[in-house]
Amino acid sequence: MASIRWKILLAFFLIVGLSFFVAATSLNGMVKDYLFEQRKRDDIAKTGKLAQKAAPLFQSVSSNELNDLLEEEAETMDGRLILIDNDGKIQYDTFQNLCGQRTQVDEVIRVLRGETVKDYGIHTPGKSVVEAMSGESAEYVAYSTYEMNGYKGRIGAAMFVSKIQSLVDSIERVEMQLLRVFAVIAVAALAFALLLSRLLTNPITAVSRTMRKMGKGDLSVRVPVRGSGELRELAENYNTMASQLESLDKTRNQFVSNASHELKTPLATMKILLESMIYEPDMPAEVRADFMKDMNHEIDRLTGIVTDLLVLTRMDNGEEMKRGIVNMTELTHETIHQLTPAAEKNNQTLTGDVQEDLFFYGDKSKLSQILYNLMDNAIKYTPEEGKISVSLREEDGNIVWRVKDNGIGIPEEDLDHIFERFYRVDKARGRETGGTGLGLSIVKQMVRMHGGTITVESSLGKGSEFTVTFPQEGAES
Ligand SMILES: Nc1ncnc2c1ncn2[C@@H]1O[C@H](COP(=O)(O)OP(=O)(O)OP(=O)(O)O)[C@@H](O)[C@H]1O
Ligand SMILES: [Mg+2]
Repeated sequence: MASIRWKILLAFFLIVGLSFFVAATSLNGMVKDYLFEQRKRDDIAKTGKLAQKAAPLFQSVSSNELNDLLEEEAETMDGRLILIDNDGKIQYDTFQNLCGQRTQVDEVIRVLRGETVKDYGIHTPGKSVVEAMSGESAEYVAYSTYEMNGYKGRIGAAMFVSKIQSLVDSIERVEMQLLRVFAVIAVAALAFALLLSRLLTNPITAVSRTMRKMGKGDLSVRVPVRGSGELRELAENYNTMASQLESLDKTRNQFVSNASHELKTPLATMKILLESMIYEPDMPAEVRADFMKDMNHEIDRLTGIVTDLLVLTRMDNGEEMKRGIVNMTELTHETIHQLTPAAEKNNQTLTGDVQEDLFFYGDKSKLSQILYNLMDNAIKYTPEEGKISVSLREEDGNIVWRVKDNGIGIPEEDLDHIFERFYRVDKARGRETGGTGLGLSIVKQMVRMHGGTITVESSLGKGSEFTVTFPQEGAES
């Protein structure tokens, strides 16, 4: 769980930290370069001027005058001034203590060798040269050298030892300041990253917690939908999925309990009949025969229910369709013929209006079951002397079946439910007429498997009309 949070945290911190580090170091470098460059230019220029002024006096013998000049310049330039002759021997030193010594300083040697006319170098404290030259060992110094020219070329070099400690100090101060800012930014970034990662991971954690609960069997739990964007969508989608699972689970449970109930009723009836036959051995033969007939009827009923359940579960499990070109005209005539006796028994008139030569690419036995179930209902739910009409037509290229009756009709509030499994408008009447409430749910599923639709119009006491429409494409392919 912590993993994604830490990754976000680390990534954020690295990005902020690194970019600040890069920005700070390059800024610092730029400031440093700029300040040092400027100082270097200044120092060299000053040294150049000094060399120019000192050269004529250096050649003459008037050492006092030169001493005065050096003293004066050393004061204005704020540093130590040293003049070296062509042999590398120190002739003048405003600090006095190096006069007469040979110099080992690189900046001077390079000028005296003629490699350059001017040179510059920065020296860290603690180095022996610095100690020797500056007299203040603990400080940063810079050496600027410039050649001194007489009439016949170079006569020596002038050297300016300038204190750059304050420059180094101020750069260090800038660095310290940057470090402090960095620390503040780092803490802020850390806090922000912590907040952000929590914001990002909390919804995910919530989903995963809910999933765990669902996994344990509680399908009623939902994820709180908060925030916006993808995470909100995740929560919403998850909840939709959970609702669907829950309703699926409910439907399944209900289906099983309904099925058991429907199977129990005929079994209970049979048990009563059988027990009376067992405990009343002297039962009259006609009564016994009646009982047997009743039991036979219950067995038929049981078989019917089990057959319907099998059909439904097979379709639920994605049973293959046995498609072929079906002569719908013929199929309709056959089904009407098949159900005519049942209608005649009720003195009902059954009429057919069947268009010639209509074909449809589908599963013949399923198509025939669709029409059979609809007509069976129409006959069952229409009183004696009623009228039932069946039509098959091509409308806008679609194949359309209409089964109409002038029977008892269906109450408005039940219309939405009649296609549900085990749904019967009148439970008591249903059992009497042998209905289980599975017929229309089978019809609906079979129609859907053919890509078709089924609609119903009905008014209570006046009759009902079921319309099945199969789409054009199905008819052509
Ligand atoms: N033509 C109709 N006229 C009036 N009511 C109907 C009609 N067709 C269906 N119904 C109502 O819809 C309910 C569901 O019909 P369905 O065919 O699914 O079940 P059933 O006929 O009761 O049982 P079976 O599973 O044997 O078909 C019926 O019980 C009945 O109340
Ligand atoms: Mg039915």
